[in-house]
Amino acid sequence: MPEPTPIRYVYQGAVRELADALPTQTVLQHLREDLHRTGTKEGCAEGDCGACMVVVGSLKDDGQLELKAVNSCLQLTPTLDGKALFTVEDLQQADGALHPVQQALVDAHASQCGFCTPGFVMSLWAMYLDQKTGAAAPKRRDIDDALSGNLCRCTGYRPIIAAAGRMGELPRVELDRAALARQLLALRRASMTRHGQPGRQFLAPRTLDELLLARATHPDATLVAGATDVGVWITKQLRELGDILYLGHVAALQTISEADGALTIGAGVTLNDAYAALCRHYPLELTELWQRFASRPIRNVGTLGGNVANGSPIGDSMPWLIALGAQIVLRGAQGQRVLALEDFYLGYQKKDLRADEIVEALRVPLPPPLPPPLPHSGLRFRTYKLAKRFDQDISAVCAAFALTLDGERIAAARIAFGGMAATPKRAAQAEAALLGQPWSEAALNAAMAALEQDYAPLSDMRASGAYRMKAAQNLLRRFWLETRADAPLAPAALNVFASAA
Ligand SMILES: Cc1cc2nc3c(=O)[nH]c(=O)nc-3n(C[C@H](O)[C@H](O)[C@H](O)COP(=O)(O)OP(=O)(O)OC[C@H]3O[C@@H](n4cnc5c(N)ncnc54)[C@H](O)[C@@H]3O)c2cc1C
Ligand code: FES
Ligand code: FES
Repeated sequence: MPEPTPIRYVYQGAVRELADALPTQTVLQHLREDLHRTGTKEGCAEGDCGACMVVVGSLKDDGQLELKAVNSCLQLTPTLDGKALFTVEDLQQADGALHPVQQALVDAHASQCGFCTPGFVMSLWAMYLDQKTGAAAPKRRDIDDALSGNLCRCTGYRPIIAAAGRMGELPRVELDRAALARQLLALRRASMTRHGQPGRQFLAPRTLDELLLARATHPDATLVAGATDVGVWITKQLRELGDILYLGHVAALQTISEADGALTIGAGVTLNDAYAALCRHYPLELTELWQRFASRPIRNVGTLGGNVANGSPIGDSMPWLIALGAQIVLRGAQGQRVLALEDFYLGYQKKDLRADEIVEALRVPLPPPLPPPLPHSGLRFRTYKLAKRFDQDISAVCAAFALTLDGERIAAARIAFGGMAATPKRAAQAEAALLGQPWSEAALNAAMAALEQDYAPLSDMRASGAYRMKAAQNLLRRFWLETRADAPLAPAALNVFASAA
């Protein structure tokens, strides 16, 4: 067991060392209570409002420096080890002038009470850092996405969006990335670190072997990846987590590879990177879900592995992964196990994961590379998220449909829903109603009726059981309208952005 190590991170140009941060202290608490840097605000403390937004810099194994907006209310202070933290205080210029991001907000009258403003500044700064000098003004959709994790209750978004469009017109202020990369390189660690005391320690392995050993010797430790679920357990449910085993420094879990017709996505790959890779293969089918999954800052740190391992019945990735026939790769002391993802879920909050195991990766089948042999043949696949807001909302129902057509007949049918049962679950009866049939309105109607045998959805604050059933049936109809052989609706007719384009 390694000795407790101080946490080292870069803040305001200097390396800071923390000997004794509580493993469950959030970065927001550290900023406000330890460092008295109160520019960063607390609003919801659950990742929804963006008042706490900071930017975190990290150096990837390939030497690439990443700077991303992150909700400091959910990130745990020890996760900062080896990284750089930027807060609104960092944007102050030496001569007292405002940073272009701040100046653009002032010029556009984009702040009233100002409580949300530091968070907007940091999300916009993350966007500014990605802009090249002299580049065209960002597109409206990109601005909306960059601000998808920020709420403002009094200014109204129009002037904030206008400021985002204009900040690049002001004289540019650059960050010295090379100097930062050198600082971070010097902080790199080769092997596992341990912060805190046994029973309340933060274990941060660097390799898969170290992780598996730590998992075997601490079977009760809470695994933490992006902490976008776990952070809420701490801040809202006040749960005691005991020892924490952090996956975020294990580079072996952060790889994406393609082989044998499947994309293998490491469990530690962020939602943004995972969906970016997936959408290169399924652009029509997955892009809208990607944009609607939480918000940009949550996707910057939350992982696909965490989404699947958490296994919420209303999580967004599982229905389409199951519909595509994805596999989950588990690894433990006894070696690797590979399961069909649907077999991983045994019941509400019950999974087929042994005490010594972790989720290592997801294997997602890719679309067949060759055009189908018969007209109308091939894969028809869609996923739909039904929630009250476009961004940053949990699904009432999430649906995924994958049909393989052989000519006009349905040769394979896989349907899965979230929000309809205690786990993400396939619709066996609806699938049976479709198999072998032509993809016609008669088959559709039979499958819609069969959904009533597949599910008995609950009523809760998001939706009533009756609404969920009706919506699930209508989403199946929408799928048919979009994919039927005869006069399918153009995707643009169903895309909320089509009219704004
Ligand atoms: C504001 C907000 C909005 C959200 N919106 C959505 C949404 O739109 N759709 C949606 O589906 N979810 C949403 N979520 C939930 C969350 O962001 C996702 O579930 C995310 O993918 C979790 O990943 P993580 O890396 O943060 O997991 P963590 O919080 O680190 O972990 C989640 C769970 O998985 C376990 N775990 C993590 N990695 C592994 C592993 N490799 N092996 C075994 N167990 C592991 C942890 O022990 C824990 O039980 C939202 C959350 C917030 C705070
Ligand atoms: S305080 Fe609301 S997102 Fe962090
Ligand atoms: S200016 Fe008041 S909440 Fe945004």
